[in-house]
Amino acid sequence: MSLLRSTSHRCIALCALTLSALVALAGCSRVRGAASEPEIVRPEALVDYPTLYKDNCAACHGATGAHGASVPLANPIFLSIIGHDTLRDTIAKGVPNALMPAFGKAYGGTLTDQQVDILAQGMIHQWSGADQPAGNDLPPYKAVLAGDATRGQQAYASACSRCHGPRGEGDAKNKTGSITDPTYLALVSDQYLRNLILGGRPDENMPDYRSDLSQPLTDQQITDIVTWLGSKRIANPGQPYHRNDSKYK
Ligand code: HEC
Ligand code: HEC
Repeated sequence: MSLLRSTSHRCIALCALTLSALVALAGCSRVRGAASEPEIVRPEALVDYPTLYKDNCAACHGATGAHGASVPLANPIFLSIIGHDTLRDTIAKGVPNALMPAFGKAYGGTLTDQQVDILAQGMIHQWSGADQPAGNDLPPYKAVLAGDATRGQQAYASACSRCHGPRGEGDAKNKTGSITDPTYLALVSDQYLRNLILGGRPDENMPDYRSDLSQPLTDQQITDIVTWLGSKRIANPGQPYHRNDSKYK
């Protein structure tokens, strides 16, 4: 114990020495040139994309836009489908009734319009890839057609079941968990499921909507699959996810 304590005393002394040496060094450089003084930036004046992303988004979406608690953002297909304007609006307004907060000042967040725009532009610039289908061939970001759960189940059977199991219960061989579990479905919106089908999970070898079948999934099939998955939601999946179904569709 006393050995420990004296070791830690020595450490403190050493740290203090190092610290004063550093202070002295910093002092020297200040004398040499004022330019090396760290700049203090007001939060609203911060216009550096990597810092804005790191401070506001990385906690939930991952430092590299992958492996986060939510949809992978570093996905070229997803980014071309959502497009700059919708991306900017989504960052500003957040996703109501989901865990994605609003960042725009007008919606109760902390970021200026300019900062939100820098984020949208920065993400598209950083994460768009060469492997992208042309703009007009892309399915729409938001569902516009009416979905049908029965057709969705059929489309699911041909495009998804081999990795996710016949009923979406998961498959040990492909290392997938259940995607029809009501608790999972309570945590994700229909747009989230659509985003996943559109962009796939390249990090998990899950194909995007172009699929590895002979034909890409059509807009109707994508919408139908989301409707089928959504039909597995139950009214009260358990606290704290007690939500009104119609509100987070
Ligand atoms: C507290 C966690 C959290 C933070 C912080 C966060 N997000 Fe999200 N984000 C989420 C969740 C959860 C979703 C999925 C919501 C759903 O189920 O639709 C999401 C969805 C998204 C989507 C897809 C939205 C859609 O409906 O298509 C985009 C784009 C996005 N986030 C961008 C950002 C950006 C950019 C930032 C930083 C400015 C950010 N997020 C910060 C949790 C977060
Ligand atoms: C080649 C295998 C494969 C195919 C085909 C595939 N997936 Fe996946 N999918 C995966 C893997 C692997 C994961 C990651 C493991 C997990 O989340 O269970 C995943 C994850 C998911 C998730 C959960 C993602 C999350 O993080 O919330 C959903 C939802 C999903 N897939 C839906 C689909 C749908 C719908 C289809 C058909 C249009 C499909 N998948 C086709 C392999 C596949």
